[in-house]
Amino acid sequence: MSDFHALKVSDVRRETDEATSIAFAVPDALCETFAYIPGQYLTLKARVGDEELRRPYSICSGLDDGEVRVAVKKIPDGRFSHFANERIREGDVIEVMPPTGRFCVDLDADNKRHYVGFSGGSGITPFMAIIKSVLKREPKSRFTLFYGNRTVSSIIFKEELEDLKDRYLGRLRLFHVLSDETPEVPLFGGLMSEEKVTALVEKLIDKDSVDYFMLCGPGPMIKGARLALRGLGVGDDRVKLELFGNAPPPQAGPRAVRAAMPDDGRVADVTVFLHGTKTEFKLPFNGEPVLDTALANNVDLPFACKGGVCCTCKAKLLEGEVAMDVNYGLEKDEVEAGYILTCQSRPLSDKLVIDFDG
Ligand SMILES: Cc1cc2nc3c(=O)[nH]c(=O)nc-3n(C[C@H](O)[C@H](O)[C@H](O)COP(=O)(O)OP(=O)(O)OC[C@H]3O[C@@H](n4cnc5c(N)ncnc54)[C@H](O)[C@@H]3O)c2cc1C
Ligand code: FES
Repeated sequence: MSDFHALKVSDVRRETDEATSIAFAVPDALCETFAYIPGQYLTLKARVGDEELRRPYSICSGLDDGEVRVAVKKIPDGRFSHFANERIREGDVIEVMPPTGRFCVDLDADNKRHYVGFSGGSGITPFMAIIKSVLKREPKSRFTLFYGNRTVSSIIFKEELEDLKDRYLGRLRLFHVLSDETPEVPLFGGLMSEEKVTALVEKLIDKDSVDYFMLCGPGPMIKGARLALRGLGVGDDRVKLELFGNAPPPQAGPRAVRAAMPDDGRVADVTVFLHGTKTEFKLPFNGEPVLDTALANNVDLPFACKGGVCCTCKAKLLEGEVAMDVNYGLEKDEVEAGYILTCQSRPLSDKLVIDFDG
């Protein structure tokens, strides 16, 4: 039932020793399905060894590039990222879910905005799509990017960014921050920590000139940058963020509480609506979350990260009550409106009605 399409790989490009970008040929019949807003991601699905894996990867192509491309950086022991870097070849066919995600800006030719991005490692991918699209389609807007990497050789899209800086003179400011090298200016060395982000903003940005601060990368970077911006008095309404990678497992919360409880055999009755189809299954109170239990019952619900990050598994709870182990994706107003992440939700009531279509 979840929405994958078989797309042919039209190009594979080695970007650095650790990162590869992959473009997909989108047939005319699927052009609308795969139309995207810069900043969104695709979910790729493949059989890797004896496992079927799916992972979200942000689109890095701009709206005027004439292609849909993602870039995947290898992480140590990472199953899908190694497969993507070492196995995927031009001509292969990969299962791809249409674009989704909210790490986006509403492009408008009349906008006169200043966007500031903080990116770490593979967190550059959505920025490539956003920066290229903003520079081309918002002629009065400008972008400042702080891009953290270990070394110069690990900088993905280094040349493309330099080219953009030259092509759109004065509208793209680019600052590399390197953790494993010693740049001439100490400000540009070290990790993108809370202190570093504070110093970068204080020294290089007139924060009142900024319409949106955008953060994308691994958890510690996002956390540090978020704290720095809060410390500088930047309100949450001016900050957009996209967390890459798995969130740390909760030390407390429903999962831990459940694990410590005796199994009394209590079971919730779950009804799910997806694409207009109704499915029912039982959900043990002491068992797995809604999503895993549904999958085990052959109910093919949409998901990507299974970590409470990407929101691919978002649905509306029409009846009943759940507790989420973690929620790094839903906004406060979405939770208040009844939306849940099904990969993180465990029952608190004997009946749940969950709608994926709303
Ligand atoms: C919305 C979204 C968009 C994303 N876009 C991109 C993208 O454009 N490019 C890209 O390269 N990645 C991106 N990611 C991360 C990507 O989805 C995978 O998590 C990543 O490739 C690792 O998958 P894996 O199968 O190789 O690792 P796994 O085999 O799942 O994990 C192996 C080990 O690495 C840890 N781990 C998992 N992910 C990360 C991580 N990102 N950093 C550090 N440790 C990790 C795990 O906890 C585990 O210990 C995105 C994630 C999200 C949520
Ligand atoms: S699958 Fe990513 S938040 Fe649930």
